[in-house]
Amino acid sequence: MERPLKDIWAVILAAGSGTRLADASGGVRKQYLEHRGAPLFWLSARTFSRVAGLRGLVFVFPPDDADAMEKRVRQYFRSEDLGLKWRVCAGGERRQDSVRNGLDALPKGCDGVLVHDAARPFASARLVAGLIETLDGGARGVVPAIEVTDTVKRVADHVVAETLDRAELRAVQTPQAFEAALLRQAHQRALAEGWEVTDDASMVEHLAEVAVIPGERGNVKITTPGDLEQLRENKVTVPCVGWGYDVHRFGGENDRPMRLGGVPIAGGPTVKAHSDGDVLLHALTDAVLGTFGGGDIGTHFPDTDPKFSGADSAVLLRETLAMAEEAGARVIHADLTVIAQIPRLAPHARQIAGNVCRLLGLEGDRVNFKATTEEKLGFTGEKKGIKAVATVTALRELNA
Ligand code: CTP
Ligand code: MG
Repeated sequence: MERPLKDIWAVILAAGSGTRLADASGGVRKQYLEHRGAPLFWLSARTFSRVAGLRGLVFVFPPDDADAMEKRVRQYFRSEDLGLKWRVCAGGERRQDSVRNGLDALPKGCDGVLVHDAARPFASARLVAGLIETLDGGARGVVPAIEVTDTVKRVADHVVAETLDRAELRAVQTPQAFEAALLRQAHQRALAEGWEVTDDASMVEHLAEVAVIPGERGNVKITTPGDLEQLRENKVTVPCVGWGYDVHRFGGENDRPMRLGGVPIAGGPTVKAHSDGDVLLHALTDAVLGTFGGGDIGTHFPDTDPKFSGADSAVLLRETLAMAEEAGARVIHADLTVIAQIPRLAPHARQIAGNVCRLLGLEGDRVNFKATTEEKLGFTGEKKGIKAVATVTALRELNA
């Protein structure tokens, strides 16, 4: 077989019924349990997507579910492009039947394949990369395995039949990686000769040497109710900081009268703007968006949309705060700076800070306002325009 392999795919097995866990999971098949906002099979897909050299994924789902799951996988790829090709197929009665169906769904040119249990959501990208590296180094099959810490005995009729030498024993995990043709051949033999196995290496080792690399203690298989503890999430409250910046050009007689933080600045220059031209509230709104990954103000309130012509920036800020709340972010603090040569802003500072406090629904000392000039340098120094920056802190509940 040519090295390195050119077309490596992973088969993600999610076609089991999860019987040992069914009572504790409320009947949900374990591969569909959610962790960090995604079902277990998708967590594995994400891990594979971080490994260079992997071309595509075959998801194997229970036959009664495969069509519905294909639609769901398509949606997942739409909202989170993993940069991999993908296919969905129906599994079979036993794990090895599901693998065989997965192999049949691989593209013709595929020369390397990793088989992975969706029930092992914590396998790392580093582990996957190590398997591919070993395969590329010439191994025809490779599995991750960890040393056994218990003493293992063979038991028959409730009596110890034999004590095995622990130093020789390993607990084997997935993903397991093989030359695609070799794994296909092994599955054909297994079918023809009636082998019953619980992993793929058990078949392949009849035909070729299977290499072993160190597995990971964290790469557990969610199997029994006690394992659900591993999926429990610790939420922590984290301060998230957003930053915003905006500029407006000074205008002529017919442009908008200056407002900063919702406060009219009497006698100030006018500004050119599509909305009400409140440079400070625009910077503040962008900073609020920044606290929860909300994108930018232009996406939510495009200035090409006539609906926002002359729009009251306080309303845009209010809508953005509602988005933040929806996303679980609560704004607790803002630090604001306006940069302008004119007008003098010190006389308005208290009123601006107070008004922004009101708009954010915060107590008085949670908003700081300051103004500065740029020493007659640049466009503010030349009195051509005004700029504002805002830093907002919000508290979010995130997974630890
Ligand atoms: N699997 C599969 N097709 C089967 C059986 C199992 O794709 N016919 C998959 C499971 O979805 C799981 C992996 O193989 O990701 C390992 O199997 P196991 O831990 O035994 O899962 P289940 O068979 O679903 O659980 P149980 O044995 O408790 O029913
Ligand atoms: Mg099983």
